[in-house]
Amino acid sequence: MNEYKKLTNEAGAPVADNENAITAGPRGPVVMQDVWLLEKMAHFNREVIPERRMHAKGWGAYGKLTVTRDISRYTKAKVLQPGAVTESFTRFSTVAGERGAADCERDIRGVATKFYTPEGNWDLVGNNTPTFFIRDVHNFSDLNRAVKRDPHTGRRSAQNNWDFWTLLPECFHQITVVMSDRGIPASFRNMHFFGEHTFSLYNEKNERVWCKFHFKTQQGIKNLTNGEAAAINGMDREYHGKDLYEAIERGDFPRWTMYIQVMTEEQALNHYENPFDITKIWPHKEYPLIEVGVYELNRNPENYFAEVEQAAFTPAHVVPGIGFSPDRFLQGRLFAYGDAQRYRLGVNHNHIPVNRAKVEVNEYHRDGFMRVDGNYGATPAYSPNSAGYWTAQPEVAEPPMAIDGAMWRYDPKDDPTDDCFRAGGNLWRVLAEDKKELLIQNTAGDIASCTENIKYRHAAHCYLADPEYGRRFAEAAKLDFEKVKELSKLDHKGLIAATI
Ligand code: HEM
Repeated sequence: MNEYKKLTNEAGAPVADNENAITAGPRGPVVMQDVWLLEKMAHFNREVIPERRMHAKGWGAYGKLTVTRDISRYTKAKVLQPGAVTESFTRFSTVAGERGAADCERDIRGVATKFYTPEGNWDLVGNNTPTFFIRDVHNFSDLNRAVKRDPHTGRRSAQNNWDFWTLLPECFHQITVVMSDRGIPASFRNMHFFGEHTFSLYNEKNERVWCKFHFKTQQGIKNLTNGEAAAINGMDREYHGKDLYEAIERGDFPRWTMYIQVMTEEQALNHYENPFDITKIWPHKEYPLIEVGVYELNRNPENYFAEVEQAAFTPAHVVPGIGFSPDRFLQGRLFAYGDAQRYRLGVNHNHIPVNRAKVEVNEYHRDGFMRVDGNYGATPAYSPNSAGYWTAQPEVAEPPMAIDGAMWRYDPKDDPTDDCFRAGGNLWRVLAEDKKELLIQNTAGDIASCTENIKYRHAAHCYLADPEYGRRFAEAAKLDFEKVKELSKLDHKGLIAATI
């Protein structure tokens, strides 16, 4: 039999009664003097914090990265040195759904990992797709407004979604991925994940290469059809969370093999398209995968709110040996996450245990809401100081990054090397016949409620990616294929004008 522990109020004083309010007489009203009741109600009213603006629904687990190969010629980061074992926390998420959304929706999946390295935290905030929809930060809030709820009806809107996607042709490859069988993974364990952006690595000699991060599932890829997903969502909205939790509880730890792709600065200068455009693929044939190690998840959180809901990741958290790139989309993200977290969790969110670095943190940030760690006591709060307190370390500075050209608002579509349909067409051509058919049926189903102009716009894009892709989508969406071919002859502006 359990021996009950004593209940106290927030100040540690014993609580006499947790069931019966203090009333004036046996059938009378509640009195203000029931301060324990006031405390309970007031706390409850403040328990909800803002959900993440996107990626609101998620599940997390702790794990470790074990480096089994030697990539020290590319990076000096301690977390990536041969034999290094680094503890971590990963949160998986859907993007469009709110905090209570069902897990098995057609969507991309976020995969954010915090590596607690000996040089501070490195956060890799990626997705289960190798590229992204869009490539300019300006479009990001609009993307989310288009895929989330319509301001008039309060409902999700396929019309808004497809209108936005098809007005920006760079979305095409990602649309193809999301509409393919990979759009609804069978579990988080059965999908790959990627850093998506071009990052940089630099070694002890401060020599830089550009790099992409890939994590390939060792459980094998498995996906759900629309029908399977609908049946699961009707029975269990927390299906992916349950799968991850139960696999870890039974000791069936999910694992991924970590790889990098590397491009030298010289290769980047001569690459046939912009290697810093997040909507573009670096083909494996040209930039082969280089194995790094094994990533494993092996421990469930103790408390969902404390560890999963309050987890805060940002691409701005890098460590010496890992850096950014000229990718304009990545540059925008470097601001967005910390800013969102200062609003969502407060200015001291990096002190929350799941976010806190495992190494000593010596900073001059002070005060702010929920500063509960002693606030560095009597140490100086300014720098430079004569007291010997914390100074910057120039030896960890990133090598200088050469930049070319004048400051301007460049539209990548004006770049003659820009091809928004190459990656989507290449993907179409490697799909097996059953996967092609699924892609066509999923797309036709998803776009069915949209107006014809949008269907034609997408059909023209499909045709530009591959004539067979265009023909089969046109047939499935019951469009006039001759008209699709005519539309595909127009340039971007002409196609928009013809389908607006
Ligand atoms: C300019 C483009 C982007 C902006 C401005 C942006 C902004 C944000 C913001 C504000 C959040 C919520 C953060 C929080 O409240 O803790 C978020 C979450 C997230 N974003 Fe992005 N994002 C962008 C692009 C991307 C891309 C390209 C990826 C993948 C490569 C990505 C992956 C994620 C993930 C995985 C989360 C959830 C993190 C978690 O589990 O806590 N985002 N994003």
